[in-house]
Amino acid sequence: MSFPKDFLWGGAVAANQYEGGWNAGGKGVSSADVVTRGSRTTPRYVTYKTADGKIHKDELFTLDAPEDAVFGVFEGFDYPSHEAVDGYHRFKEDIALFAEMGFKTFRLSINWTRIFPTGLEEEPNEEGLRFYDELFDECLKYGIKPLVTLSHYETPIGLSNEWGSWVDPRTIDAYLHYVEVVAERYKGKVEYWLTFNEINTLEHGGFMGAGVPSTDPKKLAMATKHQLLASAEAVKLLHEIDPRNQVGNMIAFMAYYPLTCNPEDIMACWQEMNTNWFYCDVQARGYYPAFKLKEYEREGIDIHLSEEEKKVLKEGTVDFISFSYYMSNCAAKQSDAAETSIGNMSLGFKNPYLKASDWGWQIDPMGLRYSLNILYDRYQKPLMIVENGVGTQDVLEEDGSIHDQAHIEYLWDHIKAMKEAIEIDGVDLIGYTPWGCIDLVSASTGEMHKRYGFIYVDYQDDGTGKGARLKKDSFDWYKQVIASNGEDL
Ligand code: BG6
Repeated sequence: MSFPKDFLWGGAVAANQYEGGWNAGGKGVSSADVVTRGSRTTPRYVTYKTADGKIHKDELFTLDAPEDAVFGVFEGFDYPSHEAVDGYHRFKEDIALFAEMGFKTFRLSINWTRIFPTGLEEEPNEEGLRFYDELFDECLKYGIKPLVTLSHYETPIGLSNEWGSWVDPRTIDAYLHYVEVVAERYKGKVEYWLTFNEINTLEHGGFMGAGVPSTDPKKLAMATKHQLLASAEAVKLLHEIDPRNQVGNMIAFMAYYPLTCNPEDIMACWQEMNTNWFYCDVQARGYYPAFKLKEYEREGIDIHLSEEEKKVLKEGTVDFISFSYYMSNCAAKQSDAAETSIGNMSLGFKNPYLKASDWGWQIDPMGLRYSLNILYDRYQKPLMIVENGVGTQDVLEEDGSIHDQAHIEYLWDHIKAMKEAIEIDGVDLIGYTPWGCIDLVSASTGEMHKRYGFIYVDYQDDGTGKGARLKKDSFDWYKQVIASNGEDL
């Protein structure tokens, strides 16, 4: 037997990609709600108005908006988070299907703007709180433990418009107020919490990760510091409110390999790996690593970290480490010979030994075993894989079947890698929630037809479809994986 007997098998979604109901039940506008649909060839845009009354759209990952920008939702744009896959109205049906697969846990995010519509209110929105009460009760009815991400690309746009979001330290207070309210309200219903989704994407896309309308490295360094402090404070707060609470961080983990054995490439690889380690070091060890402080020094960035703040970081380390893993990448000092690769976070070089998905993400199950090993070796804390999977273009057959062999193969290989990491390497892995267990909107492109799910959702990019839920071939396969606790793949 390799997987522990109480291993947390499940699946993962995020509110902005799953729920829809963007203005229902008193909900406010979140950063995700002002981002348009894109495609593999068209970027996603962020929309805003300037003081002269003009409406603008700028690319999501390179957004540098003027000071007078007021972000919002405007006529004539297609915003996929607004309807998403209508989980807001259909969650009971979906949770029943997760239960049928045997889920032990369901990872979802609370959309901050359902609870505090602009992020600035004193009093929470009761209707938003009630919505998650019902959702958690529905999970618990089937013995499914909710695993809650407190912030998954859903920063209230009110905070971006008011003071530039996480660049301003007042956002820490707004976040902690929200955390306190939901921790008190869902005490006894939720025990597993993640403070920020893929916190390390902040430096690669400030708006996507944190509603920061800028790519200025100084501003991003401050936003990062504020999120790290908020994360540490949230860990402490969650423990105080309920000692049963288990709190994790969440990083987008990218395994890098040196492109060649040229020592220059080894060093380049080491430096790329630091993009993973930095945030995780602070959240798991409780202090800024030396390489990051030196980098700030070289760039003339002073984050003014006080003794009091250092103490907060030290006292607020996480109980477990969670991460997303989709692919690996190669690093090189420079290479004219190799092609660059694309992926969910940063660019790298193509690995000639690996195949890639239709969206160009390199598929590497051994990279998952490698990642589990280096993470466990570095931190010695329990690990949870809270996102993993491959986006594919599934075909809905006339008879309603969906033969998603590519999902089965990808997940089979990755679960086998997990098994080896536990059985052979002794890694303490406690849970696995593959991404988009039900089809949802893609974060990087805003598409519907990049599908990860065990459950097909009949919504298409052109707005057609009625949202019917249909089981794919992978549904029964995953059910059997869970029933056998990972023995029968
Ligand atoms: C992660 C995010 O980066 O990757 C998810 O946490 C996202 O929100 C997932 O959906 C997969 O990326 P994409 O672009 O295929 O949706």
